[in-house]
Amino acid sequence: MTMKYHTFENFAALSEALSQQWLDVIQTTPTGSSASFALAGGSTPAPVYQRLDQLLADVDQHQPIKLVATDERWVPDQDKQSNEGLFRRCLSASATDKRWQLVSLKNAANTPEVAAEAIHARLNEQLPQAFSAVLLGMGADGHIASLFPGAPTQHDDLACLAAVHPQTRQSRMSLSLPRLLNTKRIWLVITGAEKRQVLDQAIENNLPVASLLREAGCTIDVFWCP
Ligand code: 6PG
Repeated sequence: MTMKYHTFENFAALSEALSQQWLDVIQTTPTGSSASFALAGGSTPAPVYQRLDQLLADVDQHQPIKLVATDERWVPDQDKQSNEGLFRRCLSASATDKRWQLVSLKNAANTPEVAAEAIHARLNEQLPQAFSAVLLGMGADGHIASLFPGAPTQHDDLACLAAVHPQTRQSRMSLSLPRLLNTKRIWLVITGAEKRQVLDQAIENNLPVASLLREAGCTIDVFWCP
């Protein structure tokens, strides 16, 4: 496993560098094939999504990109807790231009547990096997997507699984670890000294992100700023 730090003075500089790299991946995707990206939610990545939205406005039309959340809270898109709602807000201009298509991790089922098999089938139908890139965040407890400490990272070989946030008990749907690992690139976006220390000690503490570090089939590019 190779982990490569890209450090920046501030988040604006980080967002600029990452969104330019992202745009490059989109523009160098072979004609006829769709670029696909799994995106984190939470409070960190929104400026990166907003910057990409701006950049997409100035480039020639391309094959619509496929987007999916790395994990979603089992709430309607209108809820400010929704990651899919976050994507729709941050990538609004490019939505109008039909630059991307979101493959949702939700359906009308009451719980993610009930929905998992149907969402698994949808992911297999609508997404290419390997992602062009996965953009992950990380919690201070070392969780990635909604793969929390001590919880399973996959269920029944499905591409997604239900999860519960350990503190808030909020129901979540998460991509499984093997599905997250089926990617050409991994961008891990974290900020602050605390998360950097958590990441640097993740393997010795056997945190969820350690599975990513151990099993990734590509370099993990860590985008970090104080
Ligand atoms: C989510 C995310 C989750 C997030 C981390 C970090 O839905 O919450 O996908 O995995 O990346 O919890 O969250 P912050 O960016 O808010 O610190």
